[in-house]
Parts: sequence; structure tokens; C-alpha cells
Amino acid sequence: MYELSAESPADTPEVEALMDLCFAPGRTALSSYRLREGVDPVAGLCLMTRNEYGVPVGAIRYWPVRIGDQPVLLLGPIAVHPTAQGEGLGAYLMRESLHRAADMGWQRVMLVGDLPYYARFGFVKLADVEMPPPTNPDRVLGLELVEGAWAGVSGHVERIADAGA
Ligand SMILES: CC(C)(COP(=O)(O)OP(=O)(O)OC[C@H]1O[C@@H](n2cnc3c(N)ncnc32)[C@H](O)[C@@H]1OP(=O)(O)O)[C@@H](O)C(=O)NCCC(=O)NCCS
Repeated sequence: MYELSAESPADTPEVEALMDLCFAPGRTALSSYRLREGVDPVAGLCLMTRNEYGVPVGAIRYWPVRIGDQPVLLLGPIAVHPTAQGEGLGAYLMRESLHRAADMGWQRVMLVGDLPYYARFGFVKLADVEMPPPTNPDRVLGLELVEGAWAGVSGHVERIADAGA
């Protein structure tokens, strides 16, 4: 019923429209977006689903960020069209992309979101990781793709483009 594909540049306007529909206005003012500015998303992990009419109904994107000199995968945004929510599409996008991330060799993933949703995928609160303000610390969550990957990784999340600055 749903066709999964990697998001290509030609898909981006449609995916942006889906994100605008699913999120409150002003989504790009969120602190996560500061970490994405001027940085390409991780191509192999930005996935989308279209329904039987070819309409985009789900999308997930990832960006590389860093904490100190440690690479971190920043998950988000993820969006499922309101008419398709609650059917497991979000979980499908989460699991498929996280599986691919592990295959690509990524060790740790973080996001800013609701623990009650993301806990089912193994995410836990990251007590020692700080997103740029304003971010509710209770919404800063992490997942280990390799056991122990978050051990000793703490501090400010920074733009990958600022590495070495
Ligand atoms: C969050 C979102 C991607 C989930 O997609 P989905 O396809 O509806 O999710 P699934 O079908 O896999 O899972 C549905 C379950 O998650 C729960 N859920 C969805 N959003 C939740 C949230 N923010 N907090 C807690 N539970 C949530 C639903 O209540 C449902 O619960 P159930 O399994 O007990 O019935 C989708 O609701 C969405 O696009 N929301 C608007 C954009 C958004 O908030 N994105 C996340 C930003 S952090």
C-alpha cells in the first residue's frame, strides 16, 4: 500500500509541504534547525513513503551533528500525514531508517521529541547532552546503535560544519 523510497532533491518540495502540514507554523525556528543550517542531510537515511496515488504520506530526515569530536546522528523531523497517522507508518519509518543507520556504521542517534512515543524504539532521556536553547531538556533523547555508544559523550550539541572551530 505504501511505497518506501529515499528522498531525492526532486521530492523535497513535496516533503517540505508534508512537514508544513504536520507541524505547527514556525517549525524552522526550532533549535534543531540551527544545527542543520548549511549542512546536507544524510542522504541514505532521508526516507519517504507515498500512498497508492503517489501522494507523500510520510517522511523522515536525519542530519549529522557532533558533541565534542564525537559524531552523532540527529533524527528528525519525522512526519506522517494526518489521514495516515496511527497505522504504524511512523514506526515503519523509524525502524527502517534506524536499521539503515546501523548498517552505515552510525553508533548513536539523538532527537528532540516526546519520550512516550520514542521510548518504544529504545530512546531514553540524555541527561548530559545540551541542545541549543530554547529546548526542554526532558525532550532530549538518545539511542545507542552500538552498545555503550553514549557512554562518556556529553556536552553541547554543535553543528558539524563548526567542527574544529
Ligand atoms: C509522531 C508521528 C510521526 C507518529 O506517526 P504515526 O504513523 O501516527 O505513528 P505510529 O502509527 O507508528 O504510532 C501510533 C502510536 O503512537 C502514539 N503517538 C503518536 N504521537 C505521539 C506522541 N507525540 N506522544 C506519545 N505517543 C504518540 C499514538 O497515540 C499511537 O499510539 P498507540 O499505538 O497506542 O495507538 C505522527 O503522529 C506525526 O507526524 N505527528 C505530527 C508531527 C510530529 O509531531 N512529529 C514528531 C516530532 S518530534
